[in-house]
Amino acid sequence: MPNWLALYYDQPIEIVSGKGNRVVDAEGNTYLDFFGGILTNMIGYDVPEVREAVERQIATGVVHTSTVYLLRGQVELAEKIAAKSGIENAKVFFTNSGTEANETALLLATYARKSNQILAMRQSYHGKSFAATAVTSNRAWKNSGLSPFQVNFLHGADRHLPQFARLSDSDYIKVCVEDLRHVLATATGGDVAALIAEPIQGVGGFTMAPDGLFKAYKEVLDENGILLIADEVQTGWGRTGQNFFGIQNHDVVPDALTFAKGLGNGFAVGGVVARGDLMDGLHAIGLATFGGNPISMAAANATLDYVLDHDLQANAARQGALLINGLKEAASRFPFVGDVRGKGLMFAVELVDPETGAPAPALAARMMEEMKLRGLLGGKGGLYGNVMRMAPPLTLSEAEAKEGLGILIDCLAALA
Ligand SMILES: Cc1ncc(COP(=O)(O)O)c(C=O)c1O
Repeated sequence: MPNWLALYYDQPIEIVSGKGNRVVDAEGNTYLDFFGGILTNMIGYDVPEVREAVERQIATGVVHTSTVYLLRGQVELAEKIAAKSGIENAKVFFTNSGTEANETALLLATYARKSNQILAMRQSYHGKSFAATAVTSNRAWKNSGLSPFQVNFLHGADRHLPQFARLSDSDYIKVCVEDLRHVLATATGGDVAALIAEPIQGVGGFTMAPDGLFKAYKEVLDENGILLIADEVQTGWGRTGQNFFGIQNHDVVPDALTFAKGLGNGFAVGGVVARGDLMDGLHAIGLATFGGNPISMAAANATLDYVLDHDLQANAARQGALLINGLKEAASRFPFVGDVRGKGLMFAVELVDPETGAPAPALAARMMEEMKLRGLLGGKGGLYGNVMRMAPPLTLSEAEAKEGLGILIDCLAALA
């Protein structure tokens, strides 16, 4: 296997079983899971509703048919996602992954606009394929600048940079919009196909634009006929607590929205929901052989129903507030905590050198070990690898939120 598959921890763990929001490793250690296999085990482990839906599908003897035959699960799921997207006359295409979802959205936009010019955000991550890497803006995840597009990267999620740090939200938005106009005037032919953006940057360390930036961008994009693609691979399904999709926190409707990760609660599913005219605009026929297969559709329909039936968006808002407020309160005791940020059950603690404020990736690596020792799984990220990323399942209970908060604070104290 490739040596660039990066494992967590000095002594990596193998997860062998799970129930609720806890997992057990091969040595019998139990962990409260605040990372969910990178935001993918969205409603926890061994959920009867999901397991039974998948078992029912397996019992039919059909695990694959292809899209040349009718697939009831796809139609049902597409209708639910289209309705939640807020996109007019929306149509949905199912893929196997987030990367493939972004590939599809970029194809739709470049085809419709007859342009290979794309805008993306600095510090972004959109996947591992050639086109997805081209719109990714994080050297740690980018092997080369070779690209099928001409890409220009925008400010908007880099508020921490010294030149922006002191600006108010509205001034920062103004500066970013002026920069967008300047980029369009100087670095492009004007006929740009689309802007692709994560409402909250996942791999980027849960950095985010202030609410309203994408609405302000959209006004400029609309003046120029440029499409907006929201990459909701991490931010979808109510995780941010505020709205069902992260882009809705900006009070704006994108032209296309991509999704993956949590929707199947671990079963492989991704897709794109786009304006009908955009989706139908392609002239060639197409399919994704495994995309939206009956097993992943059974899992995804059951997962999405569970999220909606239990109003897990509201739970994300409640437990997220408890955790983020608790961490913010504790942070004042630890001078090496540079920032606590997030929305709902997507929150991060940035670790810095207390003297210089410089990123402290070594502290983040120590924090990972301290968390593991105390039975809490979390993630690491950010442009400099100094951000602890937490994204527990949306089913997190208040008791579990308090337990996790206590462990996180103990770990910070251990670093002091
Ligand atoms: C925002 C975002 N977009 C796209 C992807 C790619 O998804 P996948 O790994 O399913 O191809 C990821 C994966 O981490 C992601 O975080």
